[in-house]
Amino acid sequence: MNNQLLKGKKGIIFGALDNKSIAWKVAEHAHNEGAEFVLTNAPIALRMGSINELAKKTNSTVIPADATSTEDLENLFKKSMEVFDGKIDFVLHSIGMSVNVRKGRAYYDQKYDWTIKGFDVSSLSFHKTIQTAWKLDALNEWASIIALSYIAAQRVFHSYNDMADNKSFLESITRSFGYHYGKRKNVRINTISQSPTETTAGSGVKGFDGFYKYADDLSPLGNASADDCAKYCITMFSDYTKKITMQNLFHDGGFSFMGISEDVMNNYMNSIKEE
Ligand SMILES: NC(=O)c1ccc[n+]([C@@H]2O[C@H](COP(=O)([O-])OP(=O)(O)OC[C@H]3O[C@@H](n4cnc5c(N)ncnc54)[C@H](O)[C@@H]3O)[C@@H](O)[C@H]2O)c1
Repeated sequence: MNNQLLKGKKGIIFGALDNKSIAWKVAEHAHNEGAEFVLTNAPIALRMGSINELAKKTNSTVIPADATSTEDLENLFKKSMEVFDGKIDFVLHSIGMSVNVRKGRAYYDQKYDWTIKGFDVSSLSFHKTIQTAWKLDALNEWASIIALSYIAAQRVFHSYNDMADNKSFLESITRSFGYHYGKRKNVRINTISQSPTETTAGSGVKGFDGFYKYADDLSPLGNASADDCAKYCITMFSDYTKKITMQNLFHDGGFSFMGISEDVMNNYMNSIKEE
């Protein structure tokens, strides 16, 4: 698609690790829609991933930043404004990581140093990003900030672990900072609550295949892909969504409003019969 929805807009995209990353797809679509942007990721991810390939393809600059470091974030926003010779219109925070999940610790047996690390990376980094932009007055009026969330912020998904708490906090920052940034500068802040998606972060959750299949069977439209999510992000960065702020927007093929579906019921009954 190429409707030049983001023509003239400048952005920062966090979190493109490889071509499965949701942020990667957002960068591709933003480029097609006429945006200019800086790509950023943690220094270690820049070494491991393939971001330079994406930068080349989208004609963008890469600036490293560990999103838990306010120093790095300050450097990122200042350098981005130099690159654009002006302020920023959109920011995508596409970052998530839980050490407890990675190391297989259960929710009721967390190692709190790891909990704090995961919270810093997955939630507080969003506040740090927004506060840095605020202090540097780095955003244009009507700029749009998006972070990616998951429905485990509202409902229990047994193995999503401490990431559920991190996503709840992320959505809370969206409301609280959304108020302040909206009131003072007409900047909007939202989260998009995305379907399970096959990416490095997604597949790290225990039992991901089951989550994925169940959500697909339950949702009338089926799971939303990373590509679908990217398209939604583009509309949220565009001027067509100027009065949407402080929201958690479900982008999940209808999953969030379902109780039971024919497919899920049939699979469940068949599994009982097999026992
Ligand atoms: N994949 C899913 O099923 C799914 C569903 C809903 C929401 N999400 C959310 O989407 C977002 C993007 O995840 P993804 O699925 O594209 O996976 P991904 O693994 O491709 O992206 C996660 C990114 O976070 C970056 N990151 C980790 N620590 C960082 C740090 N300290 N500083 C800067 N960046 C750091 C990683 O380098 C990586 O690029 C996450 O917030 C994730 O929780 C994913």
